[in-house]
Amino acid sequence: MLERLQKIISAAGITSRRASEALIQGGQVAVNGVVVTELGSKADPSKDTITVDGKVLKVSEQRLYILLNKPPGYITALKDSQSRPLVTDLLKDVPDRVYPVGRLDYNTEGLLLLTNDGEWANRLMHPRHEIEKEYHVRVRGKVIDQQLKRMAEGVELEDGKTAPAVVNLVKSGEQNDWISVAIHEGRNRQVRRMCEAVSLSVVRLKRIRYGTLALGTLRAGQFRYLSDVEVRELAGDQAKTSSIVKSDKSDKSDRSDRPKKTPRPERSGGKFSGRRQQ
Ligand code: URA
Repeated sequence: MLERLQKIISAAGITSRRASEALIQGGQVAVNGVVVTELGSKADPSKDTITVDGKVLKVSEQRLYILLNKPPGYITALKDSQSRPLVTDLLKDVPDRVYPVGRLDYNTEGLLLLTNDGEWANRLMHPRHEIEKEYHVRVRGKVIDQQLKRMAEGVELEDGKTAPAVVNLVKSGEQNDWISVAIHEGRNRQVRRMCEAVSLSVVRLKRIRYGTLALGTLRAGQFRYLSDVEVRELAGDQAKTSSIVKSDKSDKSDRSDRPKKTPRPERSGGKFSGRRQQ
């Protein structure tokens, strides 16, 4: 089937749609030996030989969608100059190369998606889709309502004020409190920096939900393949902010890995949303 070249290149997972366009315009792409610089040119990946910088583009027939419970102490890059463990080291017997969808810090744990479908990954990461990511954060000492409220309303960071978030106190312990933070932006080290901005010291950070997908019962280092329904749901509009309540209401099927609403706080107050009610 004929498809636009930039779509074929980004779907092969090597780069984004926009960067693929730049490759084409820069004369780095050839179809059957002929350099193509015009955007909108088409090719058939099952018949044509497409090269990028002289290397034949490998178009995988099989699309892979993986949910990994990333342990701390792994990096989401595909190689590391310091030879630290890579998340892809954990993917034993996965038949093709897959790429992380976004990133988690070296010491952040929890839900990480990986795929060889560049189009799907781009869609998920595009700010327009505002997919909500939820984190559980263990913080040193006790939090006060004012700190949660400030995080929920948005805090000033060096790259601008954060968008309204949903912030809850989840559990209160002797030495530490656990809070949940749901955001739809994807800035570098965002949750850690939001905590720092209100003088909270992060002891542990774990992503427990990505849009409609919950981490569920996977143990650290384990992974599973997503179902077709999960792949479609996640890239659809229902994965947007606050979709969880909607999808729980509309689908009563017993899916144990469906996201649960964050448990109610154990002390009074402690639940803050900087978002308007819909
Ligand atoms: N926010 C962070 O601070 N770190 C992550 O890894 C993810 C979100």
